[in-house]
Amino acid sequence: MRRPGWLAAILLVAAALLADAAAAELTPAETARILRHGPWPLAWRPDPGNRLSGKAEAVELGRALFFDSRISPDGTVACATCHRPDRAWTDGRPASRGLADHDRNAPSLLDVRLWRWFGWDGASDSLWAASLRPMLEPGEMGGSVAALARLVREDAGLRAQYRTATGDAPATDDMAVAVDAAKALAAFQETLVGGRSPFDRFRDGLASGDRAAVAGYPADALRGLRLFVGRGNCSVCHLGPAFTSSEFEDVGVGYFLGRGKADAGRIAGIDRLRASPFNRLGPWSDGGGADAAATRHVAAQHRDFGLFRVPSLRNVAASAPYMHHGRLASLEAVVRHYSEVDEERLHVDGARLVRPLRLSEGEAADLVAFLRSLTSEP
Ligand code: HEC
Ligand code: HEC
Repeated sequence: MRRPGWLAAILLVAAALLADAAAAELTPAETARILRHGPWPLAWRPDPGNRLSGKAEAVELGRALFFDSRISPDGTVACATCHRPDRAWTDGRPASRGLADHDRNAPSLLDVRLWRWFGWDGASDSLWAASLRPMLEPGEMGGSVAALARLVREDAGLRAQYRTATGDAPATDDMAVAVDAAKALAAFQETLVGGRSPFDRFRDGLASGDRAAVAGYPADALRGLRLFVGRGNCSVCHLGPAFTSSEFEDVGVGYFLGRGKADAGRIAGIDRLRASPFNRLGPWSDGGGADAAATRHVAAQHRDFGLFRVPSLRNVAASAPYMHHGRLASLEAVVRHYSEVDEERLHVDGARLVRPLRLSEGEAADLVAFLRSLTSEP
């Protein structure tokens, strides 16, 4: 049925009035801060350290490997065991379990192509090195370079895909084959990109003056967004279109693992990064060191103890539980953490940025509504 013209006109006027009401509340400073969280998606360029980056043929090999549990010696653990496509590429567990219990929560792999450092402690400086690591880690997949190379050489399907992706048959050098497998895995993960969300429609509507788009954003999410860029101080660390600085901070989340053990976070990550033959300064990177300035200059300092990478908040509603140890079960629990954070636990630097916000119940719910509005629309 065709909608009569007058009805459409009334609806448009109503939408415009609502939009004015919502947007009129925003100060110019708030509007400017909100606009900095877009546009989305971000442009991206291939990784100079990975010659297979962005190659469609490598994506296919990477996809096959990602779901292949034969990489683990007993054939039980694939990447997808802990990074499940039906769970925003996480496993839904507080801490992961591969061949053994892991201390950390599996991060979502959506938008992973955008980060500079990988892992909660940034122990890898490329997506491919972060993909090689779990295959060889005894407690995760427990594979070996030799076994991985053998799998790629001896499985007819993988061998054919390897040849298409790299232009060559798997070399006799096991390490070269394993590194290429990791680079293909990275090429696949580069395709895991979060879509546009209700927040993006709102933000772009603000930018272009599209009143209907602005009016369509729920009032509670808008109140939460104002807290986020305002009193909450959240966008100091969760900044830009991806809602992360991609650097390391302390928000007073405990790092004790029990039994006198602690997760040292960034300080240990820097040591591992510098010691790794697979970093951007090493012989296996295709960038020749030209892309390695950040890696060359990073140095562990005492203050890096217990720092963890600032995670993106896009699609965060789909990746519970939260934080590096996964001990906060819901977004409500995360917001409560920021509301009640124990200042005694904060490093000096963190204490400047994070203060207990003492949110009312309504404010906490608004902040959660905002975080949910960062979920991609189908
Ligand atoms: C046992 C569960 C498990 C398996 C299996 C696993 N991962 Fe992970 N993954 C994790 C955990 C836990 C982390 C966080 C590790 C850290 O902080 O050091 C992680 C981190 C990552 C990261 C870094 C993400 C980021 O945002 O920094 C990438 C990339 C990744 N995994 C890819 C893979 C690939 C590719 C495979 C298969 C080759 C794989 N993972 C297998 C649990 C797993
Ligand atoms: C000082 C920088 C900083 C500030 C300010 C900050 N965050 Fe965070 N945020 C982090 C870091 C770092 C983590 C990970 C901490 C960890 O795992 O130990 C994190 C984790 C989170 C997570 C969990 C994401 C996940 O995937 O596990 C959410 C949600 C979140 N922050 C929301 C917020 C909100 C809302 C605010 C404002 C009230 C805020 N953050 C303020 C740095 C910050």
